Formats: sequence, structure tokens, C-alpha cells
Amino acid sequence: MEQQRIHEHPVLDVPVKEDVKFYWNNESLTAKVGEVISSALMANGIKTFGHHHKDGTAQGIFCANGQCAKCTVIANGIPVKSCMTVVQENMIVKPAEGLPEMPISEERPNLSPVEQLTAEVLIIGGGPAGLSAAIELGKRNIKTLIIDDKNELGGKLVLQTHKFFGSVEDSHAGTRGNDIGKLLAKEVGELDAVDVWLNSTAIYVFSDKKVGILKDGVYKIVEPKLILNAAGAREKYLRFNGNTLTGIYGAGAFQTLVNRDLVKPTERLFIIGGGNVGLIAGYHALQAGIEVVGLVEAMPKCGG
Ligand SMILES: Cc1cc2nc3c(=O)[nH]c(=O)nc-3n(C[C@H](O)[C@H](O)[C@H](O)COP(=O)(O)OP(=O)(O)OC[C@H]3O[C@@H](n4cnc5c(N)ncnc54)[C@H](O)[C@@H]3O)c2cc1C
Ligand code: FES
Repeated sequence: MEQQRIHEHPVLDVPVKEDVKFYWNNESLTAKVGEVISSALMANGIKTFGHHHKDGTAQGIFCANGQCAKCTVIANGIPVKSCMTVVQENMIVKPAEGLPEMPISEERPNLSPVEQLTAEVLIIGGGPAGLSAAIELGKRNIKTLIIDDKNELGGKLVLQTHKFFGSVEDSHAGTRGNDIGKLLAKEVGELDAVDVWLNSTAIYVFSDKKVGILKDGVYKIVEPKLILNAAGAREKYLRFNGNTLTGIYGAGAFQTLVNRDLVKPTERLFIIGGGNVGLIAGYHALQAGIEVVGLVEAMPKCGG
């Protein structure tokens, strides 16, 4: 079956990437190098990743951003968020049917001492908020560590191929969101006082304010004088009957698929809501070569 991918785009480069073989329900499929499981499944036309343990509803992507766990699958025997887990060669991926069980491991747990570090300021989240804070702190030579659970800085900006509005001075209006992300990340990279950890998830803030971080799969503890939580917000949309069906996405997940991973989740799109985000989703769809069949708005005119 031909994969559902975007081969040309008016704004984004479409890089040529090598294939990686993996298995879904014993069927051999291919992903692209560095691609997360959810996008690889979507590119192969698979939208249902399992069923909910309570009511049996189909589960697939919701946020595509690591914030909800609706996309859980079993990868090499372990339950993972498929939108946060990169496909490995020959990975065996299975749907999560009901509540997944952790495997019983024969291996002895790794009891080597946990590395403990200190920082003046720890910023959790490398989106525009975290990056802007890091720039201000770095300019004042305040030792700062900024961490992000993704493999690049920018947060939601990475997903946005449209030109931003607002003020040029304060928020780079007129520049495309993904380019703003690169500008801020470059500025941060030039500051000696700021250290950046990618693929690093803050998983716990203890009562003594030490923070447990999983960095590239290795657990570390950071003891900052100050914690700045810039982990962004979780997407939310109005509920209606059937809104959990696979094939219905939030705008953030749609942006992740078409603008970050260059996956075409559909040939035809219908949009609910004519605010900024709904209209921009239509624009992103057109860039991706997706037909926008319509948009519905409750108000007498679109507010976007
Ligand atoms: C669909 C959509 C369209 C939008 N369009 C526009 C627009 O046109 N113009 C505009 O101005 N704004 C727009 N926005 C809003 C804008 O993207 C956000 O306001 C902005 O990205 C928020 O910045 P932030 O830094 O607070 O969070 P984010 O950009 O969400 O960054 C937070 C970062 O923290 C990381 N993170 C989360 N948890 C952890 C953890 N535990 N450990 C480590 N890292 C973690 C996340 O992966 C992310 O990289 C849009 C948003 C969406 C969803
Ligand atoms: S965590 Fe993967 S879709 Fe929300």
C-alpha cells in the first residue's frame, strides 16, 4: 500500500529519509528514520491503535504531543505513548487492548548511583515561553538549564507554518511560527550561561524541590534554586457525541502530522470551528495538498 505522506510542500523542505522496518500486529511495515510510532502508523493508514479498557472505544492520537496517553501501544512488550516513542529497527508494536500490563523482567534493576546536579534556574519546557525566559536569564549571566521532552526546541512553534500576527518587536509578527522557534533556539544556543537538554522529561518535582528527569532514558536529579514551569498547555476541544472516533483530531495533532512529520492523515478534511485555529488548520491542509471540504461555525460569521 502506498504510504500517506506529503511529498511536496510550499513552505517546508521535504527531506529524503531512510526506511526503518517494524511490525504492527505481525505485519511488516516501514517508518522513516527518527519517526515516532504514531506518525508511522498513520502514514501506513492505521488510525486505531487499541481500545479503551472501560467502554471499548477506539483509541488513536488525540494530542500527538505526549500529553494524554490516548495513543498508547505496546512496543517491544512495554506500554508507551506512541506519539513520543521513536520507531526502532524490527520493533514489534501491538495495539493496547484494555489496560496494558508491565512485563515481568528477569533483569536485575540498575542500582548504580543517580547523577545529581545543581542549577540556578531549571526551566521545564523549551517552547516560546521557556526559550524567552532562558534568553532573559542568559543575558544576565544567570546559570540556567532548560529541558524539553522533544528532540528539538520550539514547542508548539515547530508545528506552525503560518506567519504570526501581533507585534513584530515582541513576538516576531509576520514570521512563520516554525522559523520563530528556530530564531529563539539560536539565540539560546549563543548564551554561555544556558545549558539545553533535549529528549529530557521532567517526571517528578519532589517536596524538597529536587526534580527527577529522564534524559535520553537515563534518570537524573537536578536541584535548582528556582523552577520555571513552561511546559505549555494541553489542548482541549468542545465535546460532542462521537468526538473520540479515530479520524477526529485536535488542531495540534493535525499540525504535528502535516507540518512536523509530513504525514497526510486524510485526503479530505472537514473543520469544526472558524476561529484562528480552525482557519489555520484549513491553511495547513491546503499546504499539505489536502482538500478542505467544508467548515462549520456556530456564530453568524467566522471569528478568526
Ligand atoms: C493548533 C494551535 C495553533 C496555534 N496558533 C497560534 C498562532 O497562530 N499564533 C500564536 O501566537 N499562537 C498560536 N498558538 C499558541 C502558541 O502555540 C502557544 O501559545 C505557545 O506555543 C505556548 O508556548 P509555551 O512555551 O507556553 O508552550 P509550548 O509551545 O507548548 O512548549 C512547551 C514545551 O514543553 C515541553 N514539555 C511539556 N512537558 C514537559 C516535561 N514534563 N518535561 C520536559 N518538557 C516538557 C513540550 O514538549 C513543549 O516543547 C497555537 C496553538 C495551537 C495548539
Ligand atoms: S500522548 Fe500521544 S496522542 Fe496524546
